[in-house]
Amino acid sequence: MDVKKLVSEMTLEEKAALCSGADFWHTKAVERLGVPRMMVADGPHGLRKQDQSADHLGINDSIRAVCFPTAAGLACSFDRDLLFRVGEALGKECQAEGVGVLLGPAANIKRSPLCGRNFEYFSEDPYLSGEMAAAHIRGVQSKKVGTSLKHYAANNQETRRMSVDARIDERTLREIYLASFEGAVKEGKPWTVMCSYNRVNGVYASENERLLTDILRGEWGFDGCTVTDWGACNDHVAGVAAGMDLQMPFSGAHGDEALARAVREGRIDEAAVDRAAERVLTTVNRYLEGRDRTAVFDRAGHHKLARAVARECMVLLKNDGDLLPLSASRRVAFIGPFVKHPRYQGGGSSHINASEETDAMEAASEYADVIYAQGCCGREDRPDPELLSRAVNAAQAAETAVLFVGLPDAFESEGYDRKHMRLPECQTRLIREVLRVQKRVVVVLHNGAPVEMPWADEVPAILEAYLGGQAVGGAVADLLFGKASPCGKLAETFPLHMEDNPSHLNFPGDGDRVEYREGIYVGYRYYDKRGVKVLFPFGHGLSYTTFAYDNLRLDRERMKDTETLTASVEVTNTGRVAAKEIVQFYVAPAHEGISRPVKELRGFAKVYLEPGETKTLSVQLPPRAFAYYETAIADWYVEPGAYDVLAAASSADVRQSARVQIESTRRLPVRVHENTTFGDAMKIPGAEEILRPLAETLSMVMGGGNSQALGESTRQMMDAMLRDMPLRALVAFAGDGAGSNMLHDVVQALREAEARAQA
Ligand code: BGC
Repeated sequence: MDVKKLVSEMTLEEKAALCSGADFWHTKAVERLGVPRMMVADGPHGLRKQDQSADHLGINDSIRAVCFPTAAGLACSFDRDLLFRVGEALGKECQAEGVGVLLGPAANIKRSPLCGRNFEYFSEDPYLSGEMAAAHIRGVQSKKVGTSLKHYAANNQETRRMSVDARIDERTLREIYLASFEGAVKEGKPWTVMCSYNRVNGVYASENERLLTDILRGEWGFDGCTVTDWGACNDHVAGVAAGMDLQMPFSGAHGDEALARAVREGRIDEAAVDRAAERVLTTVNRYLEGRDRTAVFDRAGHHKLARAVARECMVLLKNDGDLLPLSASRRVAFIGPFVKHPRYQGGGSSHINASEETDAMEAASEYADVIYAQGCCGREDRPDPELLSRAVNAAQAAETAVLFVGLPDAFESEGYDRKHMRLPECQTRLIREVLRVQKRVVVVLHNGAPVEMPWADEVPAILEAYLGGQAVGGAVADLLFGKASPCGKLAETFPLHMEDNPSHLNFPGDGDRVEYREGIYVGYRYYDKRGVKVLFPFGHGLSYTTFAYDNLRLDRERMKDTETLTASVEVTNTGRVAAKEIVQFYVAPAHEGISRPVKELRGFAKVYLEPGETKTLSVQLPPRAFAYYETAIADWYVEPGAYDVLAAASSADVRQSARVQIESTRRLPVRVHENTTFGDAMKIPGAEEILRPLAETLSMVMGGGNSQALGESTRQMMDAMLRDMPLRALVAFAGDGAGSNMLHDVVQALREAEARAQA
């Protein structure tokens, strides 16, 4: 369809009507012009297509579809190809079901482990999150079905999500919370972006022009359609004016009419409505052009894929004495509430009506004879003495006990946050009781976010399965019995205690206001900088083999801030089984400068290696990998100086390091006024001439009339004092009463020098 022409033929009322949905899951049709409606559906890790009695909270039934691991697990794969394949499968399901846009992925940062929706989010690190989201988007969209990158932006808690105002300083917003969306938008090119419910620095995301238009389109080049989260529209007219194109689920006849009236009354430009209508139609058109009416999807095939994917996501947190993998010939007891009823997805709008499920008991029958005990019912309640005693007996009767525990639905879900980081009491008790009779204990965790593990020291092996999708039990069995080696690594830090988390003092805020006072120090950026001991660090994950890292090479030792550096490292499988390794590349500033994290993830690669095999992995580190967001220039800036590039097995296990010197081609402007410090003013070319005489005089004054008389240490002290001295004080001390005229002249001369430098 010729979208522009269509829009030009529409009445104002028809255009206004297009700016909101027809019902929960459809855009509006324009029958007079032959424009059909288009269906959208959740998202993100499976297709939740609802027809009748639609609701968006996951309460009513949807068609049967395949539930893949949720984002919290997917991100631990650190595998772009894998995310692409999951996206492709979802895209196929959408084509087969006539769904035009899948509502996901979600790229919000995990600010606190308590956010009820963390299972739907990828990481505490914006680079990893953006890369994973982009790969997911590309996969879905390769099937000519759209995505809706959500929830833009700063939806990092569920508490008061529809009214809370997230107060975030500009640098933090850019480096952490927006960076995750930026990567996903630039690389993934989603058809649509869904705004969040909350306010960001005072303005609702649904009517935030800076976010929706200036940054998203102006800076990142987004060319798709913006959509509100379901019910996130605060003021429809203000939204459309700010760059919000489609209000979902609907605004009712009243809302559409109000928009048209606002145009007639001159409160909003008709061009804004045209623009929104055009973007909605462009999305519908994209779908129609790629529509494949013959598409079918293979549920059984996707279930198999879900199992393979889950294997790549699970993280072996601990494996003392190589307790895992288990031997098929020995007696194993599977104990716990999640053995036969695994928890593999979270509650809320992402909840899938799974096509089938594989539990661990059923899957283990492929490998060994396993005895079973439920142990407890899983929810937070008193232990059941009968269940507990049967579990203890089973643990005693076996050579190894595998405990399947985790968080029940009531503990984590869309719509509310967790209150603490603990497992339900009955599960902790179960673990303790089993440990009394059995030392060979494996804990398999089913949870969407970190939990405290007060028993971690006594349990030799821990496998984090996250919410591993409908085939979770199969993947767990495959890893426990060594069909494959675990190869996931944590996409978030597991703190020892909730109180250690940097957001702790300001989560979820007071009333309708939450201040992100920890700033850029989110996740490992904080734990690293403060040297806080954690339970399991970001990027951590073990394998059934071992890897050696050698010969980290940078393709240059010095470079300009406009160039891209290539880093490569050799990785060798030094153990006895084939496995995959995730190599993380961090950049660590090695010069004095602005306050920054010790290191930040800037690249990663995953590689499969047979025993004894070596491969070279390389990553590109563009200027942005070295930059921070400098608010003075409202742009990314690379400080001149030395930077270390680290090749690491986790954020706490740096294996190789190499240094590069970067020269800045860009100068930060100096704002000159009476209180500009001497040190800052000296950064202006030509300042030396203007200021040195004053500095000398000051040294004379301090040196009792003879600047030569100053000893070396006094001179150093002098220099340090001088550096932070404002011009006002410098002139007062050194100007010998020359006063305001002299100060005025100095400031003037420096301003001119600064203007020359900028020209
Ligand atoms: C959620 C979105 C979801 C939408 C539609 C909202 O409650 O926040 O993530 O896509 O509902 O179900």
